[in-house]
Amino acid sequence: CNVKAVIPAAGHGSRMQSDIPKQFLTVGGKTLLQYSIEAVCADPRVTEVIVAVSDPDSSDLPNASEFHVAQPVTYISGGDTRAESVCRGVEYAVAQGATHTLVHDAARPCLPKEALVRVIDSGTASQHGAILAIPVRDSLKRAMTSSGMAAHIEESVDREHLWQAQTPQVFQAQALLNGIKHMGAHNPQLTDEASAMQWLGYQPVLVEGAFKNVKVTHPEDFECVASWLLASTT
Ligand code: C5P
Repeated sequence: CNVKAVIPAAGHGSRMQSDIPKQFLTVGGKTLLQYSIEAVCADPRVTEVIVAVSDPDSSDLPNASEFHVAQPVTYISGGDTRAESVCRGVEYAVAQGATHTLVHDAARPCLPKEALVRVIDSGTASQHGAILAIPVRDSLKRAMTSSGMAAHIEESVDREHLWQAQTPQVFQAQALLNGIKHMGAHNPQLTDEASAMQWLGYQPVLVEGAFKNVKVTHPEDFECVASWLLASTT
């Protein structure tokens, strides 16, 4: 099989309260995006990395020689939603002969190699594809607000059988492309690639992820991730 990685990195990261989009924040002289690219290249079954960015011609983007990876890295133009950026990346991957695509968020720079290998093993072995996930650990409550301001709990939700989806997510490339197009890249329910596959009737396999594989969303996530990255490079 020919697995090509697609990394959506065209977001603005407004929840980070930073002028720089989160994937371009630096730790030890490298951007989170560079760490994420290097992380997905740790398995040689990945033959190319396609990165969707807002301006692929920007001189601020690192060039291939700056990555410590064997695989080529190609920048393409992203879209206005994460799903649209992924869709463009998967279209490019299919045109380049990919049988499978591995989609990974630019903002998850601490992906452990063992988790990457596990999800590629399962995602290429099953026609349903596979995603990394971790079991929900906290108690869950439903309330009619998402801001957390003085809302009363309407319901406690049983956390048994609930999982938090992570990336990478690995699927047959053409099936994923069909799923995203059918579901619509602006559909608010399309928050990850598994949702697009489920739309077509597939049941992707859950593969054990890692707590460290957190997505940087808020400033405190960045502090954790930065200390882990620095500890791993020193
Ligand atoms: O905003 P969120 O954390 O869900 O973004 C997840 C990933 O999708 C980030 O790496 C971000 O850069 C990317 N993204 C994108 N194109 C957009 C919006 C987000 O590639 N239009």
